[in-house]
Amino acid sequence: MSLINPTSVPQLAARYPRDASRLRHQLAAEPLLAYPALAQAARDLPRQHVERRVHDAGNGEAFRLLDDDAHPADSIAAGGVASQWIMLRYIEQLPAYRALLEGLLHELAPVIGPATGPVCDIKGFVFISAPGTHTPFHFDAEYNILFQIAGDKVFAVYPPAPPFIDLAKRESYHRAGENMLDWQPDYAAKGDQHLLAPGDALFVPYAAPHWVRAGDAPSISLSVTWQSRQTRSVADALTLNPLLRRFGLRAYDPQVSADAPWLRAAASRVGQRMGLL
Ligand SMILES: [Fe+2]
Repeated sequence: MSLINPTSVPQLAARYPRDASRLRHQLAAEPLLAYPALAQAARDLPRQHVERRVHDAGNGEAFRLLDDDAHPADSIAAGGVASQWIMLRYIEQLPAYRALLEGLLHELAPVIGPATGPVCDIKGFVFISAPGTHTPFHFDAEYNILFQIAGDKVFAVYPPAPPFIDLAKRESYHRAGENMLDWQPDYAAKGDQHLLAPGDALFVPYAAPHWVRAGDAPSISLSVTWQSRQTRSVADALTLNPLLRRFGLRAYDPQVSADAPWLRAAASRVGQRMGLL
């Protein structure tokens, strides 16, 4: 049986990779994504890859890490948390989850391959959210599909362009891992809001800003992310920008140039190997 409903795939084919697109899936009954298995996964992952954060950060505010002695696995085993957000980061480290992520992307390969080439750098994240958890406005430099497993969420997506995100923010991500974005009140009416219930999924374009709010029930979501050869080149080219500016040369801006920055990326990789960047 397919993990992703085949009838929902043509819509993705029409919109990938530029526009957000909804899918339907069969993962709500997947034992690996139920609380007992997720609690075990939290114990099996390196401790630094199991994070707790506040559940009530507003847009434009820090998504603050929580630090306490209790292992999040205990909370997950008990069915989640009343006032926290827990993330299992890089679950592809665990073979059963790696197989699940690869199975999902294999089903979408006929859509992804012709548009952006083979997938690389597959990563997986599980989000266990208290009711009402708000993930503040931010972006991720990756292609992403969020699969809603339990509870519901509103997922608001914005174009990966000014005023929502600019070149400085993109460079900051690759320099320092910073991905939070500034918020203006009028942005609230400008995003495309998708209500996701169990069985729904949403493709989020590369670097598209977004915020997320969980509904009234505890929520479980699986996020599958990947890179392409082009997005790897974009990341390398952005890393080169500060050095270019120092020499008075033109910086690369993905908003201005639609072409893949192969030469800049190659120069960046040489610079990184030489320790210049
Ligand atoms: Fe995100």
